[in-house]
Amino acid sequence: MHGSPDCELSSRSEAMAPNINSTLPLLLLFLLFTLHLSSVSAWKKEEFRTCNQTPFCKRARSRKPHSSSLFATDVAILNGALTANLRQPPPESPDQDQIKPLLFTLSVYQNGVVRVKIDEDPSLGPPKKRFEVPDVILPEFESTKLWLQRFQTETVDGDSGPSSVVHVADGYEAVLRHNPFEVYVREKQGKRRVLSLNSHGLFDFEQLRVKQEGDDWEERFKGHTDVRPYGPQSISFDVSFFDADFVYGIPEHASSFALRPTRGPGVDDSEPYRLFNLDVFEFIHDSPFGLYGSIPFMLGHGKARGTSGFFWLNAAEMQIDVLGSGWDAESGILLPESGSRIDTLWMSEAGIVDTFFFIGPGPKDVVRQYTSVTGMPAMPQLFSTAYHQCRWNYRDEEDVENIDSKFDEHDIPYDVLWLDIEHTDGKRYFTWDRVLFPNPEQMQNKLAAKGRHMVTIVDPHIKRDESFHLHKEATSKGYYVKDATGKDYDGWCWPGSSSYLDMLNPEIRSWWSEKFSLKHYVGSTPWLYIWNDMNEPSVFNGPEVTMPRDALHYGGVEHRELHNAYGYYFHMATSDGLVKRGDGKDRPFVLSRAFFSGSQRHGAVWTGDNTADWDQLRVSVPMILTLGLTGMTFSGADVGGYFGNPETELLVRWYQLGAYYPFFRAHAHQDTKRREPWLFGDRNTELMRDAIHTRYALLPYFYTLFREANTSGVPVMRPLWMEFPSDKATFSNDEAFMVGNSLLVQGIYTERAKYASVYLPGGQSWYDLRTGIIYKGGTTHKLEVSEETIPAFHRAGTIIPRKDRYRRSSTQMANDPYTLVIALNSSHAAEGELYIDNGKSFEFKQGAYIHRHFVFSDGKVTSSSLVPKASKTLFSSACVIERIIVLGHSSGPKKALIEPSNRKAEIEVGPLWLQRGKSAPVLTIRRPNVPVADDWTIKIL
Ligand code: GLC
Repeated sequence: MHGSPDCELSSRSEAMAPNINSTLPLLLLFLLFTLHLSSVSAWKKEEFRTCNQTPFCKRARSRKPHSSSLFATDVAILNGALTANLRQPPPESPDQDQIKPLLFTLSVYQNGVVRVKIDEDPSLGPPKKRFEVPDVILPEFESTKLWLQRFQTETVDGDSGPSSVVHVADGYEAVLRHNPFEVYVREKQGKRRVLSLNSHGLFDFEQLRVKQEGDDWEERFKGHTDVRPYGPQSISFDVSFFDADFVYGIPEHASSFALRPTRGPGVDDSEPYRLFNLDVFEFIHDSPFGLYGSIPFMLGHGKARGTSGFFWLNAAEMQIDVLGSGWDAESGILLPESGSRIDTLWMSEAGIVDTFFFIGPGPKDVVRQYTSVTGMPAMPQLFSTAYHQCRWNYRDEEDVENIDSKFDEHDIPYDVLWLDIEHTDGKRYFTWDRVLFPNPEQMQNKLAAKGRHMVTIVDPHIKRDESFHLHKEATSKGYYVKDATGKDYDGWCWPGSSSYLDMLNPEIRSWWSEKFSLKHYVGSTPWLYIWNDMNEPSVFNGPEVTMPRDALHYGGVEHRELHNAYGYYFHMATSDGLVKRGDGKDRPFVLSRAFFSGSQRHGAVWTGDNTADWDQLRVSVPMILTLGLTGMTFSGADVGGYFGNPETELLVRWYQLGAYYPFFRAHAHQDTKRREPWLFGDRNTELMRDAIHTRYALLPYFYTLFREANTSGVPVMRPLWMEFPSDKATFSNDEAFMVGNSLLVQGIYTERAKYASVYLPGGQSWYDLRTGIIYKGGTTHKLEVSEETIPAFHRAGTIIPRKDRYRRSSTQMANDPYTLVIALNSSHAAEGELYIDNGKSFEFKQGAYIHRHFVFSDGKVTSSSLVPKASKTLFSSACVIERIIVLGHSSGPKKALIEPSNRKAEIEVGPLWLQRGKSAPVLTIRRPNVPVADDWTIKIL
C-alpha cells in the first residue's frame, strides 16, 4: 500500500531517504529523519553504488590485460561493410562456458567516421534481442555511408593471423587485426595509430542466458532486489587515444575538464567516471560520480597530432576508467612503443557494442563528426539566449507581477520568468493552483506585452490520483512503465505515489506531445515554454533514487538497457509537443535536467542542483565546457548556486560569469532567501545590472554563435584549445574559456580577489573587453581585478557585433541598431560575422536569414553576404549599424567614406562602452548608419 496521494514531499533532502516502504508510520519516521537531515545536509555517498558494489564494474576492473582470447574469422565484405565472426578458442575444461561467436561489422562514413558494431548473432538463438538505442542516430547519417568494396590483407610480425585493412577518407585507414582481435584507425602514411579498441585485450562480452535451476542472478542494494532475468550481460573493452596529452568529455560529472586518471601507478584509488543518470542531492564539486545526464563520447587531444573522438552509443549504466600511464606495465606487460597515448577502459551493464571512431584531426572536426551522427544543436529562439529569472517558487500572480515590475524599476532586462512545481494543483502537471494563479493566461499576456515569456515545469512522474485525467488516461491506455512483475510501476516523487510514462514508445511520445496544445494545456498561451525536471527519472524511494533496473518498457526492454536515455525521450516528446502547438512554425524551448547523446537537438540543459559556494562556481566552467564539447552547447549552471545563500560577492561574481554561459538563468531552492538582483544595495544592483547588460549587448554575437553551433556542432562556449589547438598551456585550463573565436573570459573564483593570473594564448594580442587596453598573447598576465567585472578579452583580428541600447527584453531590441567592434591585429586586419533571423520560427531553414561577413583590411571595412544568392529575399531587416569602433587604430583620421552611397561619416575618439565606467579612448566611426543587410564598404580616410 502506498501513502496518501495528498501527501506531498516538498524538500529536496527527502529525495535522499533510504528505501522506504510506504506504510504511514515508516513515512512519518522518514519525514522526521529527513527534516533532521535537511539541517545538516550533505552529499549522501552511501545512497549510491560504488564500482565495488556494482558486480559488472568490479569484474571488469579485475580483469588482466590481454585476458581476452577473441579472434576474428570469416572476414568478408557484406552490404558495403567489413564483417567477421569473433570467436574464442575451445575451453580448456568442459565445465567452462564458451561464448557463441559474435557478429562484428565495421562501416566507414564520409568525413572520417568509422563505426564498429559487435552483437550476439540472432541466428544462434539468444533469449532476446539486445537493446539498440533508437532515435539517436540521425537518419541522414546512414546515407553518408561509404560502400566498401574490398579489403587488403597484411600480416604483423608475431600475430597469429593477418589484419584486414579498409580505406577511410582523407589518408586514414581502419584495421581489423584478427588474432589477437583488435580494431584501430591509423594514418595511411607512416601507419601511426589514432584510436584503437582492445589493444590491451580487455574485451569481454557476457551473453544473455536462460535461467537454469540453481542460477542466482539477483543483485541487492540497500534493500532493493534486481531480478536480472537474463543473467549478467555486461560488455567491456579498452580504448586507446594515441598522441593524446589529455582526454575530455563523457559528461556529466562535477570534475576537472581534462579528465584525471582513475587508476594506475601513483593514482589515488578512485572510482571510475560513472555514466548513470541520477538525481544526486547536493553533489560535491570534484567527483567522478554520475550526475543527471550521460554522453558516452570522449575526445583525446594532443599537440603532436590533434584531436580524435570515440563514442559508444549505449544507454545502460557505464563506467569509464582513465588509465594513468604505466598501468599496464604494472601487470608485467609492456606498452608498445607509440609515443604519448591515453588508455581507457569502458564498461557497460548491457546493450551492444555500437561505437564510432572520429579521426578529427582538429577539435572542430571531431565535434562536427560527432554531431553528424547525433545531430546538430537546435537553433534556439532568440529570447531563450537572454537572461532567465527562476526560483522555487514565485508564489502567486502578485509575486510574479511584483518581480516583473522590479526588473523595470531597476532598469534590468530579463526575458523569461519561471514557475516551479508549486504553481500546480498538487503537483499535477499541466494544472494550476487556482488560488495562487487564478488567471494564468492574463499573467502571461502581461509579460508578453513587454516581450517577455514564461516557463512552467512539467516533470515525468504522474500523480496516481484517480481523479487526475492524465493518470486515468495513461492507466487505461497502458502507457506506464511496468515493474518486473508486469504491474504499473509505482514510485515516489513530488506528488507522492506516481507512475512514469514509457517514453521509449513512439506512440506514447506522440500522445504526450499533444498535451501541450493550447486546448489541452488549459491556462497556457503561445508565450509559455517548458522545463522538464526529474527525468533521470528521479524516484525518491527507488534504488539510487531512480527506477529499478528490472522495470519493463515497450518491447520488453529492461530499464537497465535504456536508463540513461529515459530523460532524452521525455525531452524529445515535450519539445515535439511545443513544435506541434505552433503548427510546426515556431522553435520550441524546453530545458531538461537529464540528457543523453542527441539531446542537443531538443533543447537546453542545466547542471542541476549546485550549491552557493565558490568551488561550485569554479566547477561550472569545466562542466559547461564538457557539455559543449559533446554537443550540448545550450547549457548553463544555476546562477547564484541552487542550495544555500550566496554571499553578495559570490552572487555578483556568479552573475558576471553566468552572463557568458550559453544558458543564463538564476535559480534558487525554496529554503533560500530571496536574491533578486536589487536586494543587495545599490552598488551590487549596479554590478549585477552591468553583468546582465553585457549579455544583452552581446546577444547578436551569441546568436551568431548559436547559429554556428547549429550548422557545425562547434560549441558557443569553447575550451581555449579549440581555438589554439597546439598551445599546450591551454590544454588543462579550466578556469578560462572562449565564447566563440573572439572572446576570452576568465572567471574569478575566490573572494576578495585582488589579482588574477590570466593566460592569453596565441601569437596575437588581446584587448580588454571593457577598457580596450591591449595585452600581449602567449603569456600569463597578473592582472589587477576590480569588483566591476571579471577579466574578458577581445581577440585581435576579430570583429564582435553588439546592440548597445538596453531595453526590457531581447525581443524589444529587434529593431535596434548595431555596433561593430573591430579589434585589429598586428597586420591591421580583422574579420567577423553576424547572423540574424526572425528569432522565432523555422523559416531560417528555408533561407530566411541574413548572414554577413565583415572584413577589415587596407584601412577599410567591408560587409558582404555569406548567404548563397537566392532568387528572392526571404528575410529582411531595416536595422542599421550606428557605430563602428576600431581597436588598435591610431586616432588620426577624422572622416570615413561610405560606398556605394558615397557619403561621409565622422570619426571621433569615444568610449568603448557608452554607459559604463572607465574605458580607453577608441576610434569610433559615428553614425555610418549603413543597412545591416546590405553590401557596403567604409574607408577610413
Ligand atoms: C529539482 C530541480 C530544481 C527544482 C526542484 C523543484 O531539484 O533540480 O531546479 O527547483 O526540483 O522542482
